[in-house]
Amino acid sequence: MLKTSYRGKVREFIVKVSDDEFHTDFGIIDLSVLLEKSPGDSVTSHMGQEFTLQRPRMPDFFNHAKRTGAPMMPKDIGTVIAYTGLNKDDAVLDAGTGSGILAMYLGSIAKHVLSYEVREDFVDVAKQNVLNAGLDNVEIRCGNIVDEISSIEDSFDVVTLDTQDSKDVIPHVRKVLNPGGFLVTYSPFFEQTKDIRKAIDVAGFYDVRTMEFSEREISFSERGTRPATSRVGHTGFITIARV
Ligand SMILES: C[S@@+](CC[C@H](N)C(=O)[O-])C[C@H]1O[C@@H](n2cnc3c(N)ncnc32)[C@H](O)[C@@H]1O
Repeated sequence: MLKTSYRGKVREFIVKVSDDEFHTDFGIIDLSVLLEKSPGDSVTSHMGQEFTLQRPRMPDFFNHAKRTGAPMMPKDIGTVIAYTGLNKDDAVLDAGTGSGILAMYLGSIAKHVLSYEVREDFVDVAKQNVLNAGLDNVEIRCGNIVDEISSIEDSFDVVTLDTQDSKDVIPHVRKVLNPGGFLVTYSPFFEQTKDIRKAIDVAGFYDVRTMEFSEREISFSERGTRPATSRVGHTGFITIARV
């Protein structure tokens, strides 16, 4: 990632080492010179603007990845990771992939993530995002998880569902979850969430909890310090259940 400052504002660009040139408003950078550079080093554009090299982290991919729809927000992703205790030995089944934001965050921690997306055009974007993030443990398959789940042979430690039809997937989740594994669903509406809870009750999970998490940034100015007036509003309800 290349970072520079212009008129007091930070500008970031995610780039890859290649023989290409990278064109910015602040001049052209020869990307081949990055091969001999390390994080913290700097490069200068043909216009004399200095850029610092940084290794991109997941929040950078959250900000810069191409989006096909609304990704899960960091506050909710953090919740999924914390409440499931996701770790480096875990295998995760995820659907729908969308832009792949959740799948990428999970893949940056877990052993393997298999993610299903029904739309082929979304799969292409998500695969490119995963490639850009350098994650070789995130596998994206095109398919409808409702149809596919019953033929999945592997087992998983965590299953994450962020689709409108999650309730139709839930009856098949026990079969693919390892003992003690977690099911997590993400649903924006109460109606969807109630359907999910009913399906979870029928399927016989335990420790079932539905939660909503809010985020409140604090603004600092000459006039005073207070919660920011613009804020992240409702995103989705997270339901977590265990086998
Ligand atoms: C809200 S987005 C998921 C966002 C994703 N979690 C992220 O963080 O980027 C929901 C995605 O699910 C896909 N989808 C909907 N129903 C599906 C199904 N039955 N099987 C697979 N994907 C599905 C949609 O095409 C859409 O891309």
